[in-house]
Amino acid sequence: MCAPDYFSVDHNINPWMAGNTGQLDMGRAMRQWENLKQELSKTADIELMEPQPDLPDIVFTANAGFVLGNRAVASHFMPDERRAEEPYLKQWFRDQGFELCELPDDVGFEGAGDCLLDRNGPWLWAGYGFRTEIEAHPYLEKWFDRELVSIHLTDSRFYHIDTAFCPLTDGYLLYHPPAFDYESRLAIEKRVPSEKRIVVDTEDAGNFACNAVNVGKDIFVHKASRPLKSRIQKRGFRVHELDLSEFLKSGGSAKCLTLRLTEPGGA
Ligand code: ARG
Repeated sequence: MCAPDYFSVDHNINPWMAGNTGQLDMGRAMRQWENLKQELSKTADIELMEPQPDLPDIVFTANAGFVLGNRAVASHFMPDERRAEEPYLKQWFRDQGFELCELPDDVGFEGAGDCLLDRNGPWLWAGYGFRTEIEAHPYLEKWFDRELVSIHLTDSRFYHIDTAFCPLTDGYLLYHPPAFDYESRLAIEKRVPSEKRIVVDTEDAGNFACNAVNVGKDIFVHKASRPLKSRIQKRGFRVHELDLSEFLKSGGSAKCLTLRLTEPGGA
């Protein structure tokens, strides 16, 4: 995780940011982030990245890159506004001892925001359409030696796959089907049996219910409606709601604020 010391919404690179320029309550953002860190530290060890001036979105560490085993692929951001993060993030991965893979300069890829490990099957789910280009997918498949399922994102509000799709322990899945095209929905249904698919409606998806951090049977989210919570709990999970309203103004929530560094396996 990376503290929101320099977090701001003074630019506009996704539909959630529009209209929120200058609307941040920084004190509240800091308290919400501290609370998330505190809650996650009960089930996970937290590694902190030093925040950097002039890099307001670096707080969303899911976009730093994608990690599997001891290998990391650095992000190459689509919006110019986030490109300045790249040298810092690459150095950070190297300093942590990861073997760093770098994409060609003309291929966009936004890390774990658009690449998720299935928690049951031996494949990766990777989004494309807004902030990652499909041209990045074959590189990921090769570097991680895993089947990759390409998911086409079609609704700009769900511009990273992790805003509408969250693989859970034992092969369960939280997802918002309208965020994906028809073929992608078929690909999902083929791999995840219906009893394991937890469909998230527009209202819950708008509250970033799919942008969840899942550790074992614990699920951390900004907000989930009562019916959604009960459907998740029926599958044996515990739901923890944590107010992250200030980060929603930037189009991010719990999962975007974290990057999982200890994914098992890999090439
Ligand atoms: N404001 C950030 C951006 O648009 C939010 C990133 C959210 N990250 C995510 N993994 N969905 O880049």
